Amino acid sequence: MLNFSNTNVLLCVTGGIAAYKSAEIIRLFKKDGADVRVVMTESAKEFITPLTLQAVSGNEIHDSLLDVKAESAMGHIELAKWADIILIAPCTAESLAKITHGRADDLMGSVILASNATSYIAPAMNTTMWLDKSTQENFQTLLSRGMNFIGPDEGEQACGDVGPGRLVEPEKIVELIKSDLHKGPLSGKTITITAGPTREQIDPVRYISNNSSGKMGYALAEAAKLQGANVNLVSGPVSLTANKGINLFKINSAAEMLNKVIECMESSDIFISCAAVADFKPANYSDTKIKKEDSESLEINLEKNHDILSEVSKRHNSAYIVGFAAETANVNDNANKKLNSKNLNMIISNDVSDKTIGFDSDDNEVHVITENETIFLKKDKKIKIAREILNIIALNIKS
Ligand code: C5P
Repeated sequence: MLNFSNTNVLLCVTGGIAAYKSAEIIRLFKKDGADVRVVMTESAKEFITPLTLQAVSGNEIHDSLLDVKAESAMGHIELAKWADIILIAPCTAESLAKITHGRADDLMGSVILASNATSYIAPAMNTTMWLDKSTQENFQTLLSRGMNFIGPDEGEQACGDVGPGRLVEPEKIVELIKSDLHKGPLSGKTITITAGPTREQIDPVRYISNNSSGKMGYALAEAAKLQGANVNLVSGPVSLTANKGINLFKINSAAEMLNKVIECMESSDIFISCAAVADFKPANYSDTKIKKEDSESLEINLEKNHDILSEVSKRHNSAYIVGFAAETANVNDNANKKLNSKNLNMIISNDVSDKTIGFDSDDNEVHVITENETIFLKKDKKIKIAREILNIIALNIKS
């Protein structure tokens, strides 16, 4: 199922009669899981009230560049960074001209200039205004810079004229952006990701495991799906749910994880080993519950588990292989050693001694290390870090 979960959409509403349709656009984005914030130009407020768009989006409206209160809540730079997608709908002839010329005298202009988000313009204006040479030149200029346009549609307009200039219907706008999102840089690739801890049973009721929550692996799976990949997620026991569309395989032990990963890698292009695989397992499994009455102490012999990551890198040297190095000391040195010893294309190192990141936290801060470079991704939500990591992988696969 394609959707916008964990996607931040910034809708810029400008002052045209079609502004009333922005409420429906917001509703459709939200229905598909997006978090929507709205920037309104002054003239947009003449056509639809901020209160309406606030109620539909569930977020305060952003409308002022120079208001100290508004800027302290979420400044224009923060807003620009927050957005994954910017949609200007409806976009008037005036706003189109403003964007073409990079003007920053209001919040919308400033946010657009300050953002690297994928942006879309859905123009809506009188047909003669749309066909005017100035507007057409602005349109062509923005197209040549890579701006995405949705419409305008042709048909009868509010003023009675007939021709191009109508806002594309909200359903179509949202569908187009959705299908673009899923045409991402990993489309056509299959990626296998491991996540969570493994459980190494001692007897039917006891096991050895660790604190991995699986959040990073699940975030990677979701980000990979959003980038268009076919995703296999091989997960140890965690209390997370995978998004629809991700092929989830639940396993318990490292041995089960290894078998499933080997099966998945037969048709995978990328492997990301994010799981905290138990390094050791009990050498002897007891079929029956070990009774405490039987002895005063208990010794459990452990034997080494297979290293799944090394096994995959040995078998699949044409796949792009990524490991994680959760360390508590000499983080990057140890990660670099692992990059070589496990013959990986990339290793992602993080310091698990820092309780605000890693294991059970919602945040992470990592170094992405390849043979040629080390990229630092500063502390952020795991889903954002996951997206950055996948962007880097997609770039490396291309080059
Ligand atoms: O050597 P170390 O366990 O620190 O390496 C961590 C990396 O190796 C992680 O990517 C982890 O998922 C993977 N790993 C594995 N199988 C193991 C142990 C670790 O795939 N048995």
